[in-house]
Amino acid sequence: MSVAGTEWDARAEAYRTSVTHARGADLDRVIELCEPRTGLVAIDVATGGGHVARRLREAGCVVTTVDPTPGMHPDVIARAEYLPFADGCFEVAVNRYAAHHYDDVAEAMRELARVASARVVVEDLLYQDDACEEAELLRDPTHKRNYTEAEWRTLFTGAGLALDTVEIQTVDHPLEEWIARTGCTGPDAQRVRELLAPRVVDGVWTNEVIILRGKK
Ligand SMILES: C[S@@+](CC[C@H](N)C(=O)[O-])C[C@H]1O[C@@H](n2cnc3c(N)ncnc32)[C@H](O)[C@@H]1O
Repeated sequence: MSVAGTEWDARAEAYRTSVTHARGADLDRVIELCEPRTGLVAIDVATGGGHVARRLREAGCVVTTVDPTPGMHPDVIARAEYLPFADGCFEVAVNRYAAHHYDDVAEAMRELARVASARVVVEDLLYQDDACEEAELLRDPTHKRNYTEAEWRTLFTGAGLALDTVEIQTVDHPLEEWIARTGCTGPDAQRVRELLAPRVVDGVWTNEVIILRGKK
């Protein structure tokens, strides 16, 4: 298992207060695709700063949060690759901005599909190119990799889910804030700036995310 608890614990407050994570059109769309209503039973896997769960609860949903990092204060401490819940005990399973950290994303997708009775909603960073992957890994050693749209489609169908939504959005990352959030400094931070320079305008790196929904 490669989740370095101490690394994530140290970052917990930064993820709770991160504007990129706390709001945005991408978060709005993820919530919409969950079809929230009073009493909807949902699980937010890799809850991080808890932004998906907060929004779903505001809409009246009953949400269980899961994360392997104690400092994120989840309801249940667990990895996405092993969810300690019975089959189909949530209507919707959500996983936002986290799959690029998983050791076994296919297993995590099978687990999300298993515990959901109706639908699975996922958002993650979309693979851009090898320079972006190198920058992501330097900035955050817990980064595994981002996946292409084709890989995401295969992950959903491989988990037995029928895709009904595949959308790509852009998300703005203020570069220095993004680099600092993981504690990346010195020569590594400088190399990240060089790798992303062709994509940065006025200090903002505009990246792509993919949002998908699969139904059982
Ligand atoms: C960027 S944060 C998640 C952001 C959050 N979902 C949101 O919408 O703001 C990534 C989270 O993934 C968690 N994580 C890392 N490896 C994981 C794994 N194998 N299974 C589940 N969560 C994991 C980390 O503890 C961290 O809280």
